[in-house]
Formats: sequence, structure tokens, C-alpha cells
Amino acid sequence: MLGATGATGRKVVERAQALGHDVVAVSRRQQQEVPPSAMVTRFTGDVRDRLSLMPAFAGADAVISCIGPDSNLKPGNLMSVGISNSLAACQASGVRLFIMQSGIMLTDGADLSAFDRWALRLVHLVFRKAIADKAIAERAVRESGLSWVIVRAVGLRDLPAGKNYVAGPDARVALLRPLPFADCADCLVRAATNEGSWTGKIVNVGRV
Ligand SMILES: NC(=O)c1ccc[n+]([C@@H]2O[C@H](COP(=O)([O-])OP(=O)(O)OC[C@H]3O[C@@H](n4cnc5c(N)ncnc54)[C@H](OP(=O)(O)O)[C@@H]3O)[C@@H](O)[C@H]2O)c1
Repeated sequence: MLGATGATGRKVVERAQALGHDVVAVSRRQQQEVPPSAMVTRFTGDVRDRLSLMPAFAGADAVISCIGPDSNLKPGNLMSVGISNSLAACQASGVRLFIMQSGIMLTDGADLSAFDRWALRLVHLVFRKAIADKAIAERAVRESGLSWVIVRAVGLRDLPAGKNYVAGPDARVALLRPLPFADCADCLVRAATNEGSWTGKIVNVGRV
């Protein structure tokens, strides 16, 4: 699990454990955010350094990425470089399934309401660079030769899990209606464990 200290990643670690999965939690620094547990191995790695990821990936059934840049307004190239390195580390380690947390702002709008398509144009103006970097990352996932699921989330908030979210390929979600981090995490764990029909698909997750 990449990005285990982040707002979504912490919830992924929690949810995966609650469902009985062992987790290797990867991030660059000491992980006070990830409580010690018999089911969690905390691991220091940097997605800019492919070799640093390989010991963490050895023996894993799937890798979930919740990495993100510090700011979507100054995104740099973390997603394009980090996801490419993570895919290469999966290939070298024999991991077959890769789940990437992405954003609904990557959609072309065909699956949104007319109002949301209009709002999306503004979002694209503001987050142009972040979208461009994530688009490169998404393409690398699609062309990796691995089994994959790209999960495009709406804006996320620190709210209690609602469990009333919608998720699926082409699911119509409300662009501006925030989703709890925990619900997005639940969707990511489902993608990694028991939603075989999502493999090779882009899945939207949000609320109606
Ligand atoms: N938050 C939202 O509303 C939202 C909505 C839709 C999509 N998304 C996308 O979903 C992803 C996760 O979002 P989030 O809000 O949960 O992110 P976040 O809280 O900012 O967490 C980002 C994570 O990425 C890790 N990271 C950053 N650089 C890294 C590196 N070089 N090597 C390894 N790990 C690195 C950080 O770990 P360390 O700093 O500990 O290394 C942290 O765990 C992002 O791509 C974001 O754009 C977010």
C-alpha cells in the first residue's frame, strides 16, 4: 500500500485490516499515522526510487497506490514518475494487480451531468498541470501489462464513512459532492480484493 500515511491511505490500511488482509504500509517517513498492528508491516520507501519499493512488494497479491503530490496547484511530476516506478517494481516483484487512486477531474465529462460538465471545465483550467501529470500516470497504468483498476474519486473529506457511495465503470457521480475518505478507501480495497469485473477499467467513486 503506497501512500499509507496520507488521508486516504490511512483509511485503506484500516479497512484492509478490518477485512482480514495483511498490509505492507509504505511511505517516505516514520509512520506515526499508522498504528502498530500484527497485520501491518511499516516500510520506508520512496516512489521516486524504484529499488526502494521492491522489498515491500515481494509476495504481495496487489498494490494500492494512494500517493499524491503535496499540492495539486504545484503538482510537479510525482504521479507520472512515481506511478511508472511503482509499476516497474510490481513487474520486477511479480505483483499482478495494481490499483491507482486518481481523481474525477481526469474524466472527459461524458459520465457527468450537464452542470457538472460545465463545472469540470473550470476545474480543468485551475488544475491543468496536475491533470496533465495524472493523465501520464493513468496511461502508464493502462499500458503496463498488469491487471489494473484506476479509481477516480470526487473531492474527499474527513467525514464518517457513509457507505452510501456509488462506484463502478461509468458510474455517474456528483462532481462537487464530497465523499468521506473512508468510503473511497473501501472502494479501493474492493478493487484490490473482490471486484473482478472492475479489472482493466476506470471506476468512478462518489455520491449521486
Ligand atoms: N484528497 C482529495 O480530495 C482527493 C480527491 C480525489 C483524488 N485524490 C487523489 O488521491 C491521491 C491521494 O490523496 P490524499 O488526499 O489521500 O493524499 P495525501 O493525504 O496528500 O497523501 C499523499 C501520500 O503520498 C505519499 N507520498 C508523497 N510523495 C511520496 C513519495 N515520493 N514516495 C512515497 N510516498 C509518497 C505521502 O507519504 P509521505 O509524505 O509520508 O511519504 C502520503 O502518504 C492523490 O493522488 C490525490 O490527488 C485526492
